[in-house]
Amino acid sequence: MSILVTGGAGYIGSHTCVELLNAGYEIIILDNFYNSKSESLNRIKEITNKDFKFYEGDIRDREFLDNLFATENIEAVIHFAGLKAVGESCQKPLEYYDNNIGGTVTLLLAMKDAGVKKIVFSSSATVYGSSNPSPLKEEMPIGGTTNPYGTTKLYIENILQDLCKSDDEWSVCTLRYFNPIGAHKSGRIGENPNGIPNNLMHYITQVAVGKLDHLNVFGDDYDTHDGTGVRDYIHVVDLSIGHVYAVKKVLAETGINIYNLGTGNGYSVLDIVKAFSKASGIEIKYEIAPRRDGDIATCFSDPSKAKNELGWVAERGLEEMCEDSWRWQSENPNGF
Ligand code: NAD
Ligand code: UD1
Repeated sequence: MSILVTGGAGYIGSHTCVELLNAGYEIIILDNFYNSKSESLNRIKEITNKDFKFYEGDIRDREFLDNLFATENIEAVIHFAGLKAVGESCQKPLEYYDNNIGGTVTLLLAMKDAGVKKIVFSSSATVYGSSNPSPLKEEMPIGGTTNPYGTTKLYIENILQDLCKSDDEWSVCTLRYFNPIGAHKSGRIGENPNGIPNNLMHYITQVAVGKLDHLNVFGDDYDTHDGTGVRDYIHVVDLSIGHVYAVKKVLAETGINIYNLGTGNGYSVLDIVKAFSKASGIEIKYEIAPRRDGDIATCFSDPSKAKNELGWVAERGLEEMCEDSWRWQSENPNGF
C-alpha cells in the first residue's frame, strides 16, 4: 500500500516525501512540474537512498487519475498540488479557482470512486483572515480572506467539511501551515521560486547572493515590538514531519481534524534579517518601505492541539531555519 503525494516535487512536498520514506512509507508522487523541476525527485532519492514511483500529470485530469487509482494500491493521499502566489492570484483568479478548487474536487471524486477516502490537505493560516487575534486557535471562526489564493484554501476547507458530514467513511486532516522556511540539512532540496520572490526569507536569500540589491521592509509602524510585521516561521522539515503524524492519524481513524502547524513563536521582519545575517555572515541591506496591501501586524499559532492530539511539536529554532535556508541558497544559487 502506498501514499499518493500530489505536488510531491514542490517545496513542502519534496521535504515531506523524504520524511515519509525515512519513516518507512511507500510513496507515489504525482506532479505536473508547473512550479517544480524533475531534479527534485532525483535529490529525494539521493537523500533517502530509496526509490518510488512517479506520475507526471495534472490533478484536473480525471481520466489520468482514474487510471492511476486503478493501477496502484493507494491507501491515502497527501494533497499539496496547487498554485500559491498571492499576488498572481489577484491577477488570475480563474486559474487559481480552476487549479486549486477544480483540481481538488476532481481529485476527491476520483478518490471516492476508487474507494480511497483518506486525505491530508495543505491549508494555510491565511484562512483565519485579519480579525482573529494571535495566538490563532483552530476553533476560531475562519473567513475574511483578502485574495483569491486564500479564498481557494477557505473553500476547500469547507468542501472537506461537507464531504465528511455526508459520508462518515472519509478521514480528513486539514493542516494550516504558518510560514515555512529553511531547507533540508543536506542542502540538496529547497524552495525554487520562479521569478522575483514575494515571501520574506526567499527575498532575503536572493539579496544575500547578490541577485537583488536590498530588502524592502513593508512597514515599520505596526503595533509590534519593533514596528515590523510578526509571523510564525516554521522549519520546513518540522512541517514535513507533521505530515507523517497526520498520515498516521488518517490511516487510523475516520472523521475530520484540523491542526495548526506552527511553532507558537512570533518573529518580526527585523528579527529575521538579524538572525539571517548572523547565520550567513552576510549583512542584508534593507530599506523601510510602505506597508503591503493585505498584510496584518501579527500572525502566530497556538500549536497545542497538534501537540496534544498528534504528538507533534516543531523542534527547530530560528538559527537552524536561517542556516539551512542559506546552505540551500548558497549551494544552489540557481535552484535545481
Ligand atoms: P510548490 O509550488 O513548491 O509545490 C506545489 C507543487 O504542486 C508543484 O510541484 C507544482 O508543480 C504542483 N502542481 C500545481 N498544480 C498542479 C496540478 N494541477 N497538477 C499536478 N501538480 C500540480 O508549493 P509549496 O510551497 O510546496 O506548497 C505546497 C502546498 O502547501 C500548496 O497547496 C500551498 O498552497 C500550500 N501552502 C504553502 C505555504 C508556503 O508558504 N509555501 C503556506 C501555506 C500553504
Ligand atoms: C504570505 C501570504 C499568505 C501565504 C504565506 C505563505 C500575503 C498577504 N499573505 O503570508 O497568504 O499563506 O505568504 O506563502 O501575501 N515582508 C517584507 N518584505 C518582503 C517580503 C515580506 O517586509 O519583501 C514582510 C511582510 O510584510 C510580512 C513578513 O515579511 O510582515 C512575512 O511576509 P511573507 O513571507 O510574504 O508571508 P505572509 O505575509 O505571512
